Amino acid sequence: MKLPILAPNQRILVIDDNQAIHEDFKKILLPADPGSLRLAAAGAKLFGQPVTPAESPGFCLDTAASGEEGLSLVESAREQGRPYALAFVDVRMAPGWDGMETTARICAADPDIQIVICTAYSDYSWEEMIARLGQSDRLVILKKPFDTIEVLQLAHALTQKWDWGQAAGARMDQLATMVTQRTSELQAANSQLKLEMAEHARTEAELRQAQKMEAVGQLAGGIAHDFNNLLTVIRGYTNFLAQDLPRSEKVVEALREIDSAAERAARLTAQMLMFSRKKRMQAQPVNLPDLITQFGSMLGRVLGEQITMDISGGDTPLVIQADPVMIEMVILNLALNARDAMPQGGTLQISARSREITHGAAQRHPQSRPGLFACLLVADTGCGIPQELLPHLFEPFFTTKEPGKGTGLGLASAYGIIKQHGGWIEVESDPGEGTRFHIFLPAEIKAASHRETTPAPPPARGGKEIILLVEDEAPVRQLAKKLLERQGYRVFEAGSGREGLAVWEQHQHAIDLLLTDMIMPGGWTGRELADRIRAKKPEIKIIYSTGYSPELFSQDMLLKEGLNFLAKPYLPNHLIETVRRCLDNPPPA
Ligand SMILES: Nc1ncnc2c1ncn2[C@@H]1O[C@H](COP(=O)(O)OP(=O)(O)OP(=O)(O)O)[C@@H](O)[C@H]1O
Ligand SMILES: [Mg+2]
Repeated sequence: MKLPILAPNQRILVIDDNQAIHEDFKKILLPADPGSLRLAAAGAKLFGQPVTPAESPGFCLDTAASGEEGLSLVESAREQGRPYALAFVDVRMAPGWDGMETTARICAADPDIQIVICTAYSDYSWEEMIARLGQSDRLVILKKPFDTIEVLQLAHALTQKWDWGQAAGARMDQLATMVTQRTSELQAANSQLKLEMAEHARTEAELRQAQKMEAVGQLAGGIAHDFNNLLTVIRGYTNFLAQDLPRSEKVVEALREIDSAAERAARLTAQMLMFSRKKRMQAQPVNLPDLITQFGSMLGRVLGEQITMDISGGDTPLVIQADPVMIEMVILNLALNARDAMPQGGTLQISARSREITHGAAQRHPQSRPGLFACLLVADTGCGIPQELLPHLFEPFFTTKEPGKGTGLGLASAYGIIKQHGGWIEVESDPGEGTRFHIFLPAEIKAASHRETTPAPPPARGGKEIILLVEDEAPVRQLAKKLLERQGYRVFEAGSGREGLAVWEQHQHAIDLLLTDMIMPGGWTGRELADRIRAKKPEIKIIYSTGYSPELFSQDMLLKEGLNFLAKPYLPNHLIETVRRCLDNPPPA
């Protein structure tokens, strides 16, 4: 760092063992006293010469009689912050250091000082001096005897050089500081930019993922809607037969098989509805360890003997707000994948524990966030997943299985479900060693039991009221009609909204309740039909039915399951109960 000297530095040191030389330098470099100046001016006048204005060099001069003394003056001057700009050093000094030694030491002690070495012809050659002191722009050689003007010029030029050196040094320091500062600003801006770019890429990837899910969701939602109608018919008629057929062991067994197959189909339908979130989530407090233990033991039977189950829910309750059926579906999907990954057998581990996610840990995964979570682990010892496939795992229809073996919907639906639960999935895999899926779900503090056992509902009651049943799917309509008529109701049916209104016009005031599908071909929705009928008979009771989630319609209408809303596929008892409850109660406010 350069010394902060702003005023011109005119301090000069003369090092010479000869006192007379000191005096010579003083005469040349120090301001002349006013008396002698006046004398010079009078002399000039007397001899008719022009009187030049008195020139005052204005240097400040110190002298030293030896190299040692000179060095000590240089050192203390620097310490005091008033260094010398220039030193005149005599080469030949006795006793002690000669001029070479003195110069070398002074240069080492003060990196800025300029040196004039005063030498006679007989002393050292220029080459010898350079060999001794090194080539330097701080050294000037002055041959004796000196010329006054030469000394004065050297003093002016070299002190000025010192000043410029200082100014340049200060400017360099300033520039270096600016460069450092600017560099760190650029580095900060650069890392901020990198962060933003990463964030952008992440958001973009998430958006793409969301769009894919949405597209598949629409497709799956449409298919599931039709499936729900079919399942309503299958399960309804199965129920019918169970009640009406003569009860032989074989028949009961067959009907039970049909019903349980239909129930599984209903679950698959629900899985399809998962992407678009058209499937309602029936959240309740669920103790994850209980769910794992109960569902895990059932899984063991499904997966076969080759797979060793290692299930540990732990003893501590770990409660989440969840739809237990959905969470089971996630575990089932992961377990089936694990089974497929272990054709020769292996171990499937399912466990749950609580995890506190810190801010730092939350950076690791795009969807993770800090907080208390229940972490569900599903791990296998199977073939593993190659690193390059990991990013595609949760994409709908991504499968490595041969046609007919996999649809690629398992993990996509698991992803959708976990997202709907406010959680996320992480996966790690070592090809050849196995795969671990970690599912994080927001943990609740309060305790609850897995699937509260609700008491069996009392048998549903019928009635004598008149019902207008509007449903575009003929089999569903016929089933519902039969079920209702069996309970004593009179039922008029229609296959579309317009037909429904026509039937209503015929029977006008006789009709007590409208049971209508929400979405029907032919222009009118169930809602539009209901509005038209209600305009004519405000007290009419209405039940809406659909395989879609009621949330889709709930922006401007209040739908209450079991009161004015009937989710498809429905079981006969559910239909009968809803109809009775709707007739007996005022509509939801
Ligand atoms: N535990 C696992 N071990 C090895 N590979 C797996 C595992 N889980 C998933 N995969 C890979 O991820 C792909 C996608 O799984 P996903 O469950 O979504 O679909 P799928 O199993 O192929 O079909 P589906 O589940 O619809 O019957 C699988 O085809 C398989 O390549
Ligand atoms: Mg699968």
